[in-house]
Amino acid sequence: MLVLNIRRFVVALLLAGGSLLAVCCTRPPPTPTTADLGRVSSRYPGLTLAELQQGRDVYQSRCGSCHVLYQPSQHGPTEWPHLIGEMAQRAKLTQADQDRVERYLVALSARSRPLQAGSRPGAQ
Ligand code: HEC
Repeated sequence: MLVLNIRRFVVALLLAGGSLLAVCCTRPPPTPTTADLGRVSSRYPGLTLAELQQGRDVYQSRCGSCHVLYQPSQHGPTEWPHLIGEMAQRAKLTQADQDRVERYLVALSARSRPLQAGSRPGAQ
């Protein structure tokens, strides 16, 4: 009997641990760098690193209330603008905040995917 109880206890512990992990350990969105800025400078002339950072802040504070935050790399630079148009309405973002989030996600997703269809991933 005791053995059975211990086994139940272990199973409960494992289940609790699993859900805790899902809540506490989603990765924070990556911090933008000057390399990220360089990759999108021709697309967004005049954009600054501080503005990319603001985009990250808005993304982190406004886009994770209904679902976990998607990593920028989960979609490509050609996909994010379309996705954000839809989600910015749900998050009730101002146009300025929508632009900030879009630039951040486009810039960071360009780390691993081409900025435009047909170009090489990560090409500068
Ligand atoms: C009010 C709730 C809500 C907020 C706030 C919200 N989303 Fe969503 N999001 C959803 C729902 C619901 C889905 C899944 C259903 C769907 O795709 O319509 C979703 C899906 C997504 C997807 C997956 C789409 C796909 O086809 O893979 C992405 C990416 C996304 N959201 C990004 C964002 C971003 C970026 C923001 C902030 C600007 C945001 N979401 C804010 C509710 C929300």
